[in-house]
Amino acid sequence: MSRYAQVYESWSRDPEGFWAEAAEAITWYKPWDKVLDPYAGQYGRWFTGASCNTCYNCLDRHMEARADQPALIYDSPITGTKHSYSYGELLGEVATFAAVLADKGITKGDRVVIYMPMIPEAVIAMLACARIGAIHSVVFGGFAANELATRIDDAKPKLVVSASCGVEPGRIVPYKPLLDEAINRARWKPETCIIRQRPMETATLIEDRDFDWSDLMEGMRGRGRVADCVPLAATDPLYILYTSGTTGQPKGVVRDNGGHMVALKWSMKNIYGVDPGDVYWAASDVGWVVGHSYIVYGPLLHGCTTILFEGKPVGTPDAGVFWRVIAEHGVRALFTAPTAFRAIKKEDPDGALIKTHDLSGFQTLFLAGERADPDTLEWAERHLGVPVIDHWWQTETAWAIAANPVGLGMLPVKHGSPTVPMPGYDVRILDEQGHEMPRGETGAITVRLPLPPGCLPTLWQDDARFRESYLAAFPGFYQTADAGYMDEDGYVYVMSRTDDIINVAGHRLSTGQMEEVCAAHPDVAECAVIGVADSLKGQIPAGFIVLNAGVTRDPADIEREVVQKVRDEIGPVAAFKTVMTVKRLPKTRSGKILRGTMRAIADGKEWKMPATIDDPAILDEIAEALKARGLPA
Ligand code: COA
Ligand code: AMP
Repeated sequence: MSRYAQVYESWSRDPEGFWAEAAEAITWYKPWDKVLDPYAGQYGRWFTGASCNTCYNCLDRHMEARADQPALIYDSPITGTKHSYSYGELLGEVATFAAVLADKGITKGDRVVIYMPMIPEAVIAMLACARIGAIHSVVFGGFAANELATRIDDAKPKLVVSASCGVEPGRIVPYKPLLDEAINRARWKPETCIIRQRPMETATLIEDRDFDWSDLMEGMRGRGRVADCVPLAATDPLYILYTSGTTGQPKGVVRDNGGHMVALKWSMKNIYGVDPGDVYWAASDVGWVVGHSYIVYGPLLHGCTTILFEGKPVGTPDAGVFWRVIAEHGVRALFTAPTAFRAIKKEDPDGALIKTHDLSGFQTLFLAGERADPDTLEWAERHLGVPVIDHWWQTETAWAIAANPVGLGMLPVKHGSPTVPMPGYDVRILDEQGHEMPRGETGAITVRLPLPPGCLPTLWQDDARFRESYLAAFPGFYQTADAGYMDEDGYVYVMSRTDDIINVAGHRLSTGQMEEVCAAHPDVAECAVIGVADSLKGQIPAGFIVLNAGVTRDPADIEREVVQKVRDEIGPVAAFKTVMTVKRLPKTRSGKILRGTMRAIADGKEWKMPATIDDPAILDEIAEALKARGLPA
């Protein structure tokens, strides 16, 4: 029997009592005055008056019981490297790097941008910032210089931590030239850069601005200096994580210290069903929220061993690498994106490689980041023989809005649903006027305010954008920008976004932003970018461009330039490879581009001629252009 209903009910009866009890699992320097101050911030603030430190709770607190237990196992099949850090060793590295940061003038409240591949130094840098109260902002390595520049301009970091390169299958990605270009482009100039030199590529350091990570660490060790944890307000920011919005300007999601720790610690046992000492693996990247919450903070707060995996689900070296890592390190729970499983399934459809590893200790697979298609779920269930749990959340929330809580006792799995709302989330499906929809009917998925601990209190230095993006559409509710429904049993179904965000291989991207880049090409008069269904990546972007009158150049050349421009401006992660030149775009009479109809045509779905369409013949032209590119697939 699952205890879910009882626990959810106990939260809804007394939310503050519920979170106060959960907060007992955290060590505080000073307890809170109020569990929730409903008048503080944009919709209330959690644990006001309390003082704490996230790094202390991740590392120092475990010294008595687990100094020798592995805290972080770095497993990098792409470079052929493995290294394990005990809690004691990780604390040593973090406290030393925190002293390095302090020595470079970083103090509480300063921002530090971390632009790094999946190497231990990325985690060490994050925790070192947390230790001294600096606010980190990790930027995913697959973003280009321009994206990094935008984040530097918004976060205004005093210091950047980076590495000489990342390693992608078949190529080295030099990071330093991207960093230098980003700093050149940005209006804000960080004073200091600390660069981890990797053996595959040596970065050129700029005098007086750039410093070698190893030199600084060695110097600090020689001086025998470490930095202690700085007491912070529970409401002080721990980090800023930028995520795609509807424009080229990403949203700086702010995370606090206190509520975040309480929620993540609660989730480790109750949602993921793991205990301190267990090995937990989130096969994601520290540049995404999954990496923040479940590679770094959640597992360490809980005293687990976390895996930092630098590789891909296939090709490093094969589709059996996930099973090798699980067997070798004794992983109990794995969290990844459905796209990783689609990639594995494509290479090893019969799961032959699964059988070559001892997975007896493996208990649960968790999927999130995009809709989990039933085919992939069934394949994973059949071949792994463990429960496969789809759960739904967002960068904004830091932890699951809806899940099947393994630690509370699993509820029946319904394919296509991430199961039920977690305590803290009062999920409501609303129509455009804000009225609740009957069960089974699709509407906007919202959460009644206040949001639970862990969720964003605001956007970095932009309360107005926070209110406008999330709170304005439905007063009293947080708008998730996902659409879906709830069934009679209270199971949530997440069907699509209500904005222009698409999900490419589990990566959240804005088609609006891609349109901005395409439109900036001098030969492009107007454009539209839509997400089309893809059997591996879930969705991939497809662009339609209309050329300026009088352009006589070969459209194929312009298309290639547009593809390159998106890669250069946003990054390879956008996976923007398809652009079609069309004569005109389908629009309503009021001039709105009919992206939804274009998407339906591209996906081979049924669609109705929009009543307001300006000229129906244009849709035939779009269908023809798509057909020439093999779409629908
Ligand atoms: N640094 C530099 N480049 C990067 C990068 C990084 N950290 N991460 C990805 N890229 C590049 C890739 O090399 C690729 O470049 P290419 O166009 O030259 O081939 C491009 O960005 C697209 O990458 P990706 O979307 O990862 O596609 P892929 O074809 O390389 O791999 C999968 C496909 C399914 C194997 C891969 O997307 C995957 O492992 N997905 C899991 C998603 C995930 O972990 N999501 C996090 C949320 S849980
Ligand atoms: P991100 O902020 O990158 O984590 O992306 C969040 C978005 O991904 C959500 O708003 C959803 O659109 C989508 N998403 C995440 N998890 C799921 C899921 N389990 N099912 C359906 N969509 C999901």
